[in-house]
Amino acid sequence: MSIDFIHGGAIDVMRAAYPDAPTPWIDLSTGINPWPYPNLSVSPSAQTDLPTRAALEACQGAMAAAIGADPDALVLAPGSEILIRLLPTLIAPRRVAILQPTYGDHAETWTRAGAEVIRSRDPLSCADSADAVVITNPNNPDGRLFNVDAIREARRTLAARGGWLIVDEAYSDLVQRHSVVRHGGEDGLIVLRSFGKFFGLAGMRLGGLLAPVAFRNTLSHRLGAWPVSGAALEIGARAFADTTWQQNTREDLKIAARRLDDILISSKLNIVGGTNLFRLIETPDAHKLFERLAEAGIYVRRFRWPETHLRVGLPPHPDAEARLRAALNPSI
Ligand SMILES: Cc1ncc(COP(=O)(O)O)c(C=O)c1O
Repeated sequence: MSIDFIHGGAIDVMRAAYPDAPTPWIDLSTGINPWPYPNLSVSPSAQTDLPTRAALEACQGAMAAAIGADPDALVLAPGSEILIRLLPTLIAPRRVAILQPTYGDHAETWTRAGAEVIRSRDPLSCADSADAVVITNPNNPDGRLFNVDAIREARRTLAARGGWLIVDEAYSDLVQRHSVVRHGGEDGLIVLRSFGKFFGLAGMRLGGLLAPVAFRNTLSHRLGAWPVSGAALEIGARAFADTTWQQNTREDLKIAARRLDDILISSKLNIVGGTNLFRLIETPDAHKLFERLAEAGIYVRRFRWPETHLRVGLPPHPDAEARLRAALNPSI
């Protein structure tokens, strides 16, 4: 039985691996908002015509305004994953210090690129020795937050040596004050942003990157004239402009995360981190618990490292909460 360890969201693999599990499956394996931005109407021309420069700039402007960045420092892309994968084609650090643990694709990308990867609990302290430093802020999966001043100090140290600080802010819509996007464009700083998590529209494939001008120009050429679909640009522009939805969603996610805490704590599970889109739990038999939940039609995220942790996303409705509670407490 081969079950995806690399990413969450492999619900098709889970269905095949656990054919007798009750349905519908509850997918708690990702950190994607289960209550997506609702206004998904798209004009016919966004589907039939090539995306215009004006449509790209409208989305770029709305995103920049929503996150507090300079629109000129921002390059839009079809999600942040492709940007992570493209980084080694744009910069060539030999030694890359990467936060441990974090989203696995960073280490995989730089290892594949032939860089020496240093996994570190404290990668900012490698700013005076590594050629590039990668952090995720807030971190996935433990929710760890890095201080903006410490990030800026590391950027200064790296930039002075011709190095790079890469900050993955895929989850930073949840905690905006920890973001460094307003410094996007400064020497040696690359900030990655994702649309899919907070807005709950991961399948739309929209994200962005902030970086110094020469880096942005090379990246833009590499992505070509139509980096993002017309539908994603139209919906993205609308969603980023809807600050009321964003404020309400921040509050709603806080409440939903507390409800999840209640289920986990009353099931005697140890919460060791997370964001308001997921919680990280530690338990000695995490893989056994993963199996038990899968047999109950509930898919959570497990890890190769260490085998004692699971990440649990927000149950999307009361029935999912009840099923999770029951599966975690089989004797009730
Ligand atoms: C920390 C982090 N960065 C980046 C990504 C890539 O997301 P996307 O390509 O949807 O923007 C993910 C996806 O899970 C993630 O968790």
